[in-house]
Amino acid sequence: MKFRTRAIHVGSEPDSTGAVVKPVYLASTFRQPGAGDWGEFDYSRSGNPTRSAVERTLASLDGGCGALAFASGMAATHCATMLLSAGDHLIAGQDIYGGSYRLFHRICQAAGIEITLVDFNQADTWLDACTAKTKMLWLEGIGNPRLTVPDLPRLIQQAHERDLLVGVDNTFATPVLLRPLELGADIVMHSATKYLAGHSDCLAGALVAREQDVLDRLYFIQNATGAVLSPFDCFLLGRGLKTLDLRIREQCRTAQKVAEFLESHALVRSVIYPGLVSHPDHQRAKQLLDGGFGGMITFEARGDFATTKRIVAGTRLFHLAVSLGAVESLIEQPASMSHASYAPEARLKAGITDSLIRLSIGLEDADDLIQDLDQALHRSVSES
Ligand SMILES: Cc1ncc(COP(=O)(O)O)c(C=O)c1O
Repeated sequence: MKFRTRAIHVGSEPDSTGAVVKPVYLASTFRQPGAGDWGEFDYSRSGNPTRSAVERTLASLDGGCGALAFASGMAATHCATMLLSAGDHLIAGQDIYGGSYRLFHRICQAAGIEITLVDFNQADTWLDACTAKTKMLWLEGIGNPRLTVPDLPRLIQQAHERDLLVGVDNTFATPVLLRPLELGADIVMHSATKYLAGHSDCLAGALVAREQDVLDRLYFIQNATGAVLSPFDCFLLGRGLKTLDLRIREQCRTAQKVAEFLESHALVRSVIYPGLVSHPDHQRAKQLLDGGFGGMITFEARGDFATTKRIVAGTRLFHLAVSLGAVESLIEQPASMSHASYAPEARLKAGITDSLIRLSIGLEDADDLIQDLDQALHRSVSES
């Protein structure tokens, strides 16, 4: 079955009632056949039928041997880092989500795990950061917020030559555009809060593993620590997945139009979008991403910090809010919002200036979105 068909049918197989939508099993515990004689489900932290169903869909879409659904993306990332022990070393991309930066530097480091951030676009310089203690590489399939597209096949090969586990945060690209497990990555992580659930009404995370051994280790940690996704949120996530392919393809089309509009706008200094030939990773994005360049755009307007603030507060359709990947378009300032948890010097090193603006393109009509940005850009000048 093709991707779009699997999104609808895998995990939604009718039960004895014939219901075409999986029921939501709210039960926290399950009656057992006998003492010490366990049925398929016993306690919902360890397993729940609604969660199993959506985990099957997730595994199928990413091409993994299995998936685990978490209470949030950060819970999923944290679980992956718990594969490491004190004394181990993790190398991550410079262009990562602010919350991942905080988790690595404030939680993992306190647990004795050494962290190094590298620019994966600087040829093979990341290899200089590798030591005998390095155990894991953590990348984003499309970086955040500068939308870098790392050379995943090469990085995965280099990491595996050194026996490193490779985890890819695939939140921005989604399995519609990029399937890192097919390229050899060991773990894919999603903030399923974003495109996967897709409607700004569900906080969720997912890990998908390529091999059973890694999945078993992750499952042990998840069950031991307990950050599982609730049955109702599993239902919302499963429903979102059914339209994922359609939403992403449409969001890519609209984002391309918006990015081209911004690039030609007199009040815009620069636009970062992998679908523009001006993007440094455009060629690689064309090779690695499956038929689109994503729904996220970053740009800098001409003017000062105050101008940026006026633009993000001046749109009418784009909501000024963090998060991304839903049906409604969002606008935000990474330096003060999504990436505020970076240390200021690390933010600058990663190219996250105060004047950067990030857009998440939703499913509204492209012309309406363009008009909204145009009026906000012009108002930011007239009000200065
Ligand atoms: C790329 C990326 N990874 C991880 C996360 C964290 O996910 P959550 O907010 O679901 O915990 C986010 C949230 O914005 C994100 O954008």
